[in-house]
Amino acid sequence: MALVRRLQFLRSYLRQPGVVGSISPSSLALASALCDPFRQSDQPACVLEVGAGTGAVTRHLGRILGDSDTLDICEVKHDFVEALRKDVLSHRNFVPAVTSGRVQLLRVPVQEIEHKDRYDFVISGLPFTAFKLQEVLDVFRVVRRLLKPGGVFSYFEYVGIRRTSRLLSMGNRRERIRGVSSYLSNNIRSHQFQRHTVLRNFPPAHARHLRFDDGRA
Ligand SMILES: C[S@@+](CC[C@H](N)C(=O)[O-])C[C@H]1O[C@@H](n2cnc3c(N)ncnc32)[C@H](O)[C@@H]1O
Repeated sequence: MALVRRLQFLRSYLRQPGVVGSISPSSLALASALCDPFRQSDQPACVLEVGAGTGAVTRHLGRILGDSDTLDICEVKHDFVEALRKDVLSHRNFVPAVTSGRVQLLRVPVQEIEHKDRYDFVISGLPFTAFKLQEVLDVFRVVRRLLKPGGVFSYFEYVGIRRTSRLLSMGNRRERIRGVSSYLSNNIRSHQFQRHTVLRNFPPAHARHLRFDDGRA
């Protein structure tokens, strides 16, 4: 099953590299690092996972979700949503929470989620380095609206990916990566309060945790 998921992921990347953004799902070590602030929290929490893919992080969330927590799972690709429904949410870790309505699948781009001040944690697998700058700006604006004041935004990026992509690209692509990288660096400088470097992932990755102090865009 793990091999089937990997192949599905790789096929999706080859078809839509700008949406999927990675050739393989995250490792358990990276999933665990991304979920660390949520795991440390001792209050009931509303969690949003964005860009769930084939469920590498979702599975881990299923293990640590408490009886009073809620989880919304956002994924834009229909075949991944079906895989999540069939292979992940049917697992015994999830069944009670799904049955009681505490876990929901949102089959829309994150930019279209309309809530405000709803989530304590937003955990993202979105491939920002593959996005246009405008998409990254839109996602950050939406995430800041979705988070409660003091909420935490966690995402990952591969170690050195922005610098390497910039060096290996030219023209418009290089300009796009430069713009995205500068925006991400500013946010990291202003809002990152914790970072885990995860070597047990292919490729190694930083899990970054940001808090937008006043929770406003
Ligand atoms: C790099 S994969 C991460 C998958 C998984 N979280 C992991 O860590 O293995 C990125 C995922 O984000 C999804 N995605 C891309 N743009 C999105 C958007 N605007 N809204 C929601 N999901 C999106 C892609 O379909 C893909 O499944």
